[in-house]
Amino acid sequence: MNGAIRPLVAGNWKMHGSLARARALAAALRRAADGVAAALLVCPPAIHIPAVAEVLAGSAIALGGQDCHPAAEGAHTGDISAPMLRDAGASYVILGHSERRSQHQESSALVRAKAEAALAAGLRPILCLGESEAERAAGRAEEVVARQLAESLPEGFAAGGGVIAYEPVWAIGSGRTPSAAEIAAMHGFLRRQLRAGWGEAGAAVPILYGGSVKPGNAGAILALPEVGGALVGGASLLAEDFLAIARAAPGG
Ligand code: 13P
Repeated sequence: MNGAIRPLVAGNWKMHGSLARARALAAALRRAADGVAAALLVCPPAIHIPAVAEVLAGSAIALGGQDCHPAAEGAHTGDISAPMLRDAGASYVILGHSERRSQHQESSALVRAKAEAALAAGLRPILCLGESEAERAAGRAEEVVARQLAESLPEGFAAGGGVIAYEPVWAIGSGRTPSAAEIAAMHGFLRRQLRAGWGEAGAAVPILYGGSVKPGNAGAILALPEVGGALVGGASLLAEDFLAIARAAPGG
């Protein structure tokens, strides 16, 4: 943890829940969030953002999207733009999640264009990167994330409040995580890459860890050097678990 900066605990709700469940989850978080020291962010399915924004209005819990189109508007059936997310109440957007990279064939060049659109709309991009199990087994984890970082990060990312999320693909939804030493090593590596490529601005970019973060492992993960918070999937769908993770953060 970088002691000067509040940890960010973000929930990626993915394509889960009904409108009623989204409202109920947001309301439960709102009721309990006051005593939590970590900064909290929830990223519901886009169609639920306006309702969740209504429930969270006036609270300290921030809202984010899970993806955006690189264009501000246009003939793009089914897509949602960064200004639309902003309009609906989001201040962050998750980009380049491995589920989008693999299920929608998103390249790092496309992720970079989306991050540029997010910054232009005043959204803070949360840029996801991470290696597959085969890449880690082949000793290529650092090479893979370094390339994703170099190819996905746009100009102005740090100044626009950009956040990195290291999510090893094999740890997502699997109940498996890298060891504490492996997480610390990768976050240290990412910090050195950010410093080398982006100087002082790169030194301040928060680096979240994501992949099977649960109440039981959150304290150990969030205490590691250069871990600036967590991006939580499954456990963010239960208010109790999400709040327990947030409370496990240093200072929480
Ligand atoms: P899980 O926490 O369910 O492993 O998901 C992590 C994730 O993909 C967050 O973006």
